Amino acid sequence: MLKKAIILFPALCLISFAACQILYNTDVLQPEIPVIDGAYYTGTDVCIPCHGDIYGHYKKTVHSRLAFFESDQPGKGCEICHGPASIHVKEKGGTGNIISFLRLSPEVSSEICLGCHRKGSMMDWRANAHLLNGIACNECHKPHKETADKMLYPGDPEICFSCHQDKKARNLLPSHHPVQEKKMKCGDCHTSHGSENNSLNQPVLNDLCFECHAEYQGPFIYEHEPVFEDCSICHDPHGTIADNLLKQNDPFICLRCHKGHRKNPKTGSHPTVASFLTSCTQCHSQVHGSDLPSQLNGSSLTR
Ligand code: HEC
Ligand code: HEC
Ligand code: HEC
Ligand code: HEC
Ligand code: HEC
Ligand code: HEC
Ligand code: HEC
Ligand code: HEC
Ligand code: HEC
Ligand code: HEC
Repeated sequence: MLKKAIILFPALCLISFAACQILYNTDVLQPEIPVIDGAYYTGTDVCIPCHGDIYGHYKKTVHSRLAFFESDQPGKGCEICHGPASIHVKEKGGTGNIISFLRLSPEVSSEICLGCHRKGSMMDWRANAHLLNGIACNECHKPHKETADKMLYPGDPEICFSCHQDKKARNLLPSHHPVQEKKMKCGDCHTSHGSENNSLNQPVLNDLCFECHAEYQGPFIYEHEPVFEDCSICHDPHGTIADNLLKQNDPFICLRCHKGHRKNPKTGSHPTVASFLTSCTQCHSQVHGSDLPSQLNGSSLTR
């Protein structure tokens, strides 16, 4: 036993060392922010005469009110994002002598924002579907425009609809979450930044639904397996033709997994009403689970 441990321990050390090296190296691969040679920081006041309109918008954002301890970037004001500007100011404007987001790759431009925004959902950003499709932070967040909540332009859901036309169409279907009615946002369910499980606000899909539909959380004595597993087996949260956001109407949604029955499948006796191809939930009224056996499996109906 001890012998094994003596061999295993150094082996484990080696493996974890190698793993750290790999992680370390990928970190080194992070995109490099361009450097303007010889430039130093000038402060925001000098920008105002030439960029007054931008300053006006900037003044209204949280970025103009950062305390020094909130900033990991050197410099203050405009230069936390655009870098040291002394040469740009000396040359009375121009390009190439200052960092311009419109000329950077999405990876590099995001990197500037990640300098301060690294926590929470942002940790997964480098594997996010948006970045991988060439969409940087400033595609959704505009530091210099008259923006909605969270610096989004033109706001959630409009910005999302502009690219995700299929979701816009789904939200117009008869059954939908009230996103177009402005009672909900895409952001209530998605972070837009993550990489796991469709960038949902919760790692597990059902936990997301329980945030607002807690009555289905249980625990129930009589659980219905697919409900416990994943709400989206039966529901499409973006909108459906069928009622109740169901992928298909009852009974067809049930018939995906169950056989219909003309009589009580257990006792063989005649049910009160013909049960074949009528709405299953007429009798099995608590499809999400219940503490009473009669609710999901209808056994009380036989007595
Ligand atoms: C939070 C980061 C941030 C701060 C702070 C900031 N900017 Fe910007 N700036 C950006 C981003 C991002 C864009 C690109 C905007 C877009 O996508 O429409 C931009 C665009 C610009 C542009 C347009 C041209 C271009 O090619 O990028 C100018 C000019 C500019 N900023 C000047 C300023 C000035 C002046 C200030 C201070 C008053 C300032 N910025 C503060 C992030 C910032
Ligand atoms: C003397 C006027 C002047 C001052 C001062 C000035 N700028 Fe500019 N800036 C300009 C002009 C003009 C342009 C447009 C350059 C062009 O498109 O050829 C410009 C362009 C920019 C751009 C876009 C560059 C690009 O590559 O498209 C950014 C970003 C910017 N300025 C930021 C700043 C910041 C931040 C400050 C303050 C630290 C500042 N500017 C001070 C005149 C000025
Ligand atoms: C110097 C650090 C720093 C940089 C660089 C920076 N931010 Fe921020 N930002 C902050 C801080 C601090 C806050 C306020 C606390 C928070 O919400 O995290 C903030 C807030 C925000 C918010 C929330 C606004 C709100 O109304 O709640 C957004 C969105 C945002 N930043 C986007 C960006 C984008 C996009 C970039 C890059 C173009 C960027 N930031 C660059 C420090 C920074
Ligand atoms: C596809 C659009 C999109 C992109 C791209 C995007 N965001 Fe966001 N971001 C959002 C939405 C939507 C919210 C609001 C979420 C909510 O309502 O809770 C948000 C919220 C934020 C907030 C506020 C704090 C929070 O987490 O709720 C910050 C800070 C922020 N984003 C920074 C960034 C930075 C930095 C990047 C790039 C690395 C980025 N965002 C890229 C859509 C986007
Ligand atoms: C500039 C276009 C654009 C905008 C704006 C945009 N998206 Fe996307 N989004 C994409 C593309 C492209 C993909 C990757 C392909 C796909 O899954 O459709 C994507 C993927 C996604 C995904 C799948 C993520 C994953 O991990 O697989 C979600 C969720 C999403 N977007 C939500 C949003 C939300 C919410 C907004 C609004 C805040 C938004 N998007 C705004 C273009 C955009
Ligand atoms: C009630 C929660 C909820 C809301 C609101 C919501 N989503 Fe989703 N979204 C989900 C869930 C859950 C998934 C993953 C499983 C699925 O598709 O059923 C998903 C998946 C996605 C995907 C990736 C898979 C696919 O179907 O393309 C995109 C893109 C997306 N959502 C965009 C949006 C946009 C844009 C909005 C706003 C119009 C939005 N979502 C609103 C819950 C929601
Ligand atoms: C942020 C809160 C929120 C989240 C998260 C949420 N919902 Fe909803 N849900 C609502 C609201 C609000 C309604 C509309 C209620 C109304 O119209 O009375 C609704 C309605 C529904 C309906 C009934 C639709 C109809 O046509 O009557 C279903 C089914 C549903 N949600 C399923 C889900 C599922 C599945 C999830 C998880 C993927 C989820 N919801 C996540 C808020 C939420
Ligand atoms: C086996 C299929 C199935 C699964 C899985 C399922 N549901 Fe349902 N859901 C239904 C059916 C059928 C209805 C309509 C009948 C009814 O009234 O119960 C419904 C209706 C709803 C409604 C609208 C009724 C109301 O009370 O307003 C909500 C909300 C809902 N489900 C949430 C959820 C949540 C949350 C989950 C995951 C925990 C889930 N569902 C999983 C089949 C399912
Ligand atoms: C994705 C597959 C799936 C769908 C869709 C589905 N079920 Fe089920 N259902 C199951 C599984 C798995 C069980 C548990 C195993 C069993 O008893 O057959 C079950 C069990 C049941 C039971 C027996 C419960 C018990 O206590 O014996 C009833 C009744 C039932 N489901 C009704 C429905 C109804 C009504 C619908 C439509 C709203 C439906 N199911 C949709 C998979 C599904
Ligand atoms: C008229 C009422 C009624 C209707 C409608 C009905 N059922 Fe039933 N179902 C029952 C009764 C009663 C039982 C027997 C329950 C018991 O004895 O435990 C039962 C039992 C079941 C069982 C459990 C079988 C087992 O072996 O335990 C399933 C699964 C089921 N029904 C599915 C469905 C499906 C799917 C539909 C719709 C196509 C449906 N039922 C419609 C009354 C009904």
